[in-house]
Amino acid sequence: MLSLTNKRILLGITGGIAAYKCAELTRLLIKAGAEVRVAMTKAATEFITPLTMQALSGQRVHLDLLDIDAEAAMGHIELARWADLVLIAPATADFIARISHGQANDILSTMVLATSAKIAVAPAMNQAMWADDSTTTNLNTLVDRGYHIFGPAEGEQACGDVGPGRMLEPAQLLELSSSLFETGLLAGKNIVITGGPTREAIDPVRFISNHSSGKMAYALAAEAVAAGAKVTLISGPVNLATPDSVHRIDVVNAAQMLDATLEHMSNCDVFIGVAAVADYRPAEVEAQKIKKSDEQMQLTLIKNPDIISEVAKLDRKPFVVGFAAETNDIVSNGKDKLTRKNLDMLFANNATETFNSDSISVTALTKTSESELSAGNKNVVARNMLQLIATALGAS
Ligand code: PMT
Repeated sequence: MLSLTNKRILLGITGGIAAYKCAELTRLLIKAGAEVRVAMTKAATEFITPLTMQALSGQRVHLDLLDIDAEAAMGHIELARWADLVLIAPATADFIARISHGQANDILSTMVLATSAKIAVAPAMNQAMWADDSTTTNLNTLVDRGYHIFGPAEGEQACGDVGPGRMLEPAQLLELSSSLFETGLLAGKNIVITGGPTREAIDPVRFISNHSSGKMAYALAAEAVAAGAKVTLISGPVNLATPDSVHRIDVVNAAQMLDATLEHMSNCDVFIGVAAVADYRPAEVEAQKIKKSDEQMQLTLIKNPDIISEVAKLDRKPFVVGFAAETNDIVSNGKDKLTRKNLDMLFANNATETFNSDSISVTALTKTSESELSAGNKNVVARNMLQLIATALGAS
């Protein structure tokens, strides 16, 4: 499967007739999940307008090394650092010559020099220029430096010649770009994770909650991104940094967590309910701070919606994974929740050891299987959990 989920591609366009194909190339890269930013040489703007590339990429196009406004938004060094792949397409003979000599005399060549990302070059030139010894020497220099050379194709050329030197088609460039990245276990999958506690207000200053730190959910989110998934993390109040490339939505209470979850179910492949959702909330939330008066006070609680059960009831139901933190009869209580909530998989764990800890020990349950995962750091265990989920998805 072609996937560039979460990949950041800097498309460098130089001045050749094949530049017009960059419109389609940008569309395909974005459709495959990449975020695309564009830099163009001055000559490239004679073949396709920056406005076209801006409209297609949804981002300001970088044209000039000395553009104060563009540098204020994202400077060229920042952009060079931002990219996972610098794809130069089309790459003219002149541009190949310049970068093979380490020149940095425009925005694109400067970024090529400054980046530590993968660099791919899609040559496009007249067949005689392609066959020239200088071009061969320059390309060999780039290959020696670890650059990827995509093409060229053979065929009829804009000048009327026939031979090698045509830029590869956008679909071929997409395929080659995608092949540069490990696709990962969950490439292209949309995963929604709930994590952390919920807080149910009693009055403006007090709430009911629990000790969930969010560590397990955040570890799963980070590892799912590393496995190639697009991850939405619906998080209760926690003190953790958002993992790279994760779309985080902050909520406070169970009702908000339910709303945010249902809003993100339309294209969800896997839902993982890690959150320790408060089962009950105060029937009334006092508008003013409750004063200490009587010796006793009574709080009436009402049941919160069960988020994971709502997800499992959807017509277009994702693969649904639950958690159960139990203090006793861990596995049998876990099995009961798996069945009662109609889940596809559940990770049962020991509540007295797991909350706010960096490590976890879990039993993985499905309707037909039970297996203990090796105990350890939440990130390592998260990887094993995702492996099980990916295997189950492959089998379903
Ligand atoms: O956050 P950490 O400090 O890293 O701790 C991790 C954890 C202990 C929170 C995690 O490992 C865990 O077990 N999460 C589930 C906690 C729990 O016991 O949930 P539960 O038994 O109340 O619910 C079972 C499942 O239903 C869970 O997937 C839960 O997210 C879901 N649920 C529960 C109630 C509710 N109203 N809506 C739900 O979706």
